[in-house]
Amino acid sequence: MRAVTISLFGFLLVIAATIISFCDGNSNVLCIESERQALLKFKQHLIDRSNRLSSWVEGEDCCECLGVLCKNLTGHVKMLHLGLSSPYEDASDAEWDAYVGSKLGGEINPSLIELKHLSFLDLSNNDFGGLAIPEFIGSLKSLTYLNLSSANFQTPIPHNLGNLSKLNYLDLGHNCLFEAKTLQWVSVLSSLLYLDLSYANLTKATDWLQATHKLPSLVELHLSGCFLNNNPSPISVNYTSLTVLDLSRNTLSSVPTWIFSLRSLVSIDLNSNGVEGVIPNGFRDMSSLKFLDLSFNSFSSSSTLNWLSNLNRLQFLGLRGVSLQGNFSIATGNLSSLTFLDLSDNQLEIIEPKCLESLCNLREMDLSNNGIDQEVSEVIESLSRCSLDRLESLNIASNQLSGHLPDQLGQFKNLVYLSLSGNSISGPIPFSIGKLSSLKVLDVSHNRLNATLPQSLGQLGNLEHLDVSNNMLEGNISEMHFSDLTRLDYFSHLTTC
Ligand SMILES: *[C@@H]1O[C@H](CO)[C@@H](O)[C@H](O)[C@H]1NC(C)=O
Ligand SMILES: *[C@@H]1O[C@H](CO)[C@@H](O)[C@H](O)[C@H]1NC(C)=O
Ligand SMILES: *[C@@H]1O[C@H](CO)[C@@H](O)[C@H](O)[C@H]1NC(C)=O
Ligand SMILES: *[C@@H]1O[C@H](CO)[C@@H](O)[C@H](O)[C@H]1NC(C)=O
Ligand SMILES: *[C@@H]1O[C@H](CO)[C@@H](O)[C@H](O)[C@H]1NC(C)=O
Ligand SMILES: *[C@@H]1O[C@H](CO)[C@@H](O)[C@H](O)[C@H]1NC(C)=O
Ligand SMILES: *[C@@H]1O[C@H](CO)[C@@H](O)[C@H](O)[C@H]1NC(C)=O
Ligand SMILES: *[C@@H]1O[C@H](CO)[C@@H](O)[C@H](O)[C@H]1NC(C)=O
Ligand SMILES: *[C@@H]1O[C@H](CO)[C@@H](O)[C@H](O)[C@H]1NC(C)=O
Repeated sequence: MRAVTISLFGFLLVIAATIISFCDGNSNVLCIESERQALLKFKQHLIDRSNRLSSWVEGEDCCECLGVLCKNLTGHVKMLHLGLSSPYEDASDAEWDAYVGSKLGGEINPSLIELKHLSFLDLSNNDFGGLAIPEFIGSLKSLTYLNLSSANFQTPIPHNLGNLSKLNYLDLGHNCLFEAKTLQWVSVLSSLLYLDLSYANLTKATDWLQATHKLPSLVELHLSGCFLNNNPSPISVNYTSLTVLDLSRNTLSSVPTWIFSLRSLVSIDLNSNGVEGVIPNGFRDMSSLKFLDLSFNSFSSSSTLNWLSNLNRLQFLGLRGVSLQGNFSIATGNLSSLTFLDLSDNQLEIIEPKCLESLCNLREMDLSNNGIDQEVSEVIESLSRCSLDRLESLNIASNQLSGHLPDQLGQFKNLVYLSLSGNSISGPIPFSIGKLSSLKVLDVSHNRLNATLPQSLGQLGNLEHLDVSNNMLEGNISEMHFSDLTRLDYFSHLTTC
């Protein structure tokens, strides 16, 4: 019986394939006429300055058009991929201009309703000039993915998006001016895995927690910059699948206690909220955490962070500008997975050497703008116990480090960025510095370095930025120093102070 079924299925496939190749020599299905017309009408109402949609023309198989994907067998349009990815921050002006120039604008024509099988619609990073999100999008019943992020939409979010019962991904973030009175319409989207409403003004939508916490499949919730306050009536929440919670850039006055019941959270972002009081111990039991950003709050914490003791999966810890004071130590346990540690802009005075010794996976550390008053050799030597091979970026600028730079400095082979500026470091720059072959930025300005610059600086073939200014360095800078430094584009000359 089974064999028969299989061969019958095979037979059907052959028929289907034959029909397809009948319609189109390339074995690709031609798109459906009514859907072709719908797409052309949709295009007519768009402003497309860079002519991105030049392939969308009468007579063409619309399934071959840029950004359009059809179902293989039926030819129904299933995906419209018209979002843009923004260039990297260090992209050239020309790349940025090209990106901005290729943004689509204009109007979004309801002709898209004709695309009955459309499951994926991405219009992100275009510029619809403050247009309202069209109501008809709530009728595109097949949608599983809707991305309208950063596309300059305005005015209230249409509640009939709650009709899109198949939605897995809903990203309306970064459209600055949304105002919502309620998120009740979200609570019926029971298939939702991912919700981003960042930068919607949810001042009045005080039901946001009620409306989202029972979504059984929700894995990521992004509500950054939504003017959220602490919920006046605390509820016990039921986010059964949530792993990523982003409540950064809101106006929470305390860390919501319900967070601590969500033991499976992997990522918590609470940066820039202005939270006051001590950092709650509740984080201690969140042993699944890999990412925790508490930067830019006003914790009045002691800097012995006992609550870190169990978080041995933590990879990213942001504690920038949270008013940490005095000695920094990690009391018990260890942070052996930590790759990124930001303790900058606090009032730390001592970094207990022991706590640096166990950071065996550290790649980036920022201790700048504190009052760290230690021998620089102590910090570097403790780091060299374990993170020698991995450390890529070390910033200890603007502290009160003193003493000489130790030879161990030359052993951090992967170091790309090193700033020690604005301390009281004296003595020579060690000859071993020449071994830092990955180094791109070296800033030792505003210290008390004396002696002559080592010739070995000339071996730093990847160096792009060198600042040794405002020290008491002696001697001449010879061409020998820099003959190989072909990439160097910034060099601040020796000045004596
Ligand atoms: C549909 O066709 C494309 C391109 O010919 C192919 O890569 C893809 O695997 C096919 N998908 C299915 C589900 O058959
Ligand atoms: C939506 O698009 C933006 C920009 O292209 C992208 O960064 C974001 O990850 C997308 N959202 C989802 C849920 O895929
Ligand atoms: C769609 O949503 C609107 C507004 O929320 C509602 O009035 C309407 O009944 C819904 N339609 C369907 C078919 O569910
Ligand atoms: C946010 O919404 C509230 C209430 O609707 C309003 O008072 C406030 O001005 C809005 N904030 C911004 C930045 O638009
Ligand atoms: C939380 O979710 C579980 C599983 O979906 C359900 O059994 C339970 O009743 C829910 N609790 C509340 C308070 O909603
Ligand atoms: C801070 O550390 C220094 C040096 O390890 C120690 O002498 C001092 O007692 C510590 N202060 C506090 C308040 O722990
Ligand atoms: C640190 O944590 C790792 C991973 O859990 C563990 O294997 C190691 O024994 C711990 N080390 C110390 C000193 O507690
Ligand atoms: C550098 O400064 C130290 C301490 O002030 C001094 O002992 C040393 O002689 C100086 N070295 C040079 C080469 O000037
Ligand atoms: C620096 O250069 C000047 C002039 O070229 C030379 O007289 C002097 O001896 C040099 N000083 C050192 C320390 O090499």
